[in-house]
Amino acid sequence: MEKQIILKEIEASQTWQIRHQVMWPDKPIDYVKLDEDKKGMHFGLEVEGKLVSIVSLFVENGEAQFRKFATLEEEQGKGYGSKLLTHLMDAVAELGVTRVWCNARANKTTFYNRFGLKETRNQFSKGGLDYVIMEKRLIH
Ligand SMILES: CC(C)(COP(=O)(O)OP(=O)(O)OC[C@H]1O[C@@H](n2cnc3c(N)ncnc32)[C@H](O)[C@@H]1OP(=O)(O)O)[C@@H](O)C(=O)NCCC(=O)NCCS
Repeated sequence: MEKQIILKEIEASQTWQIRHQVMWPDKPIDYVKLDEDKKGMHFGLEVEGKLVSIVSLFVENGEAQFRKFATLEEEQGKGYGSKLLTHLMDAVAELGVTRVWCNARANKTTFYNRFGLKETRNQFSKGGLDYVIMEKRLIH
């Protein structure tokens, strides 16, 4: 039987465990809690009632930034992240922002290309990882 998949808006606090486990397991849990979380929108994908993929969206100055996109390790490569990102992009289109962007881990650029995001010339390193700013401009 097909697995039941639900996309929904969630609370910031529901993202923290997956953020921690998947992205920064060696840091204390507080490292993944953002001051901005209160002002953000948070989206999750549930499989059979279990949260497996999460992403957060922050709107500022008419632009939307998504951050902390993660899928539980054992559930990666099954298309869940793509489903969630498609859902996020649909939500972004409704917001009337001029641009959506992210600090992409350098090894994830091809993945984001599929969603219309392009690499900018802005690159940086943080916490031992290389990042590139990727963006998609939206016309209204
Ligand atoms: C980035 C991340 C959120 C993607 O989530 P995901 O659920 O694995 O995403 P998908 O399954 O949709 O896609 C992952 C890969 O599987 C492939 N894939 C998608 N559906 C698939 C399927 N049904 N069968 C096989 N492969 C599939 C995709 O093409 C993609 O390939 P790529 O990595 O070579 O581009 C996840 O890898 C993750 O949590 N990584 C660690 C944290 C991180 O790097 N976050 C992003 C920071 S920018």
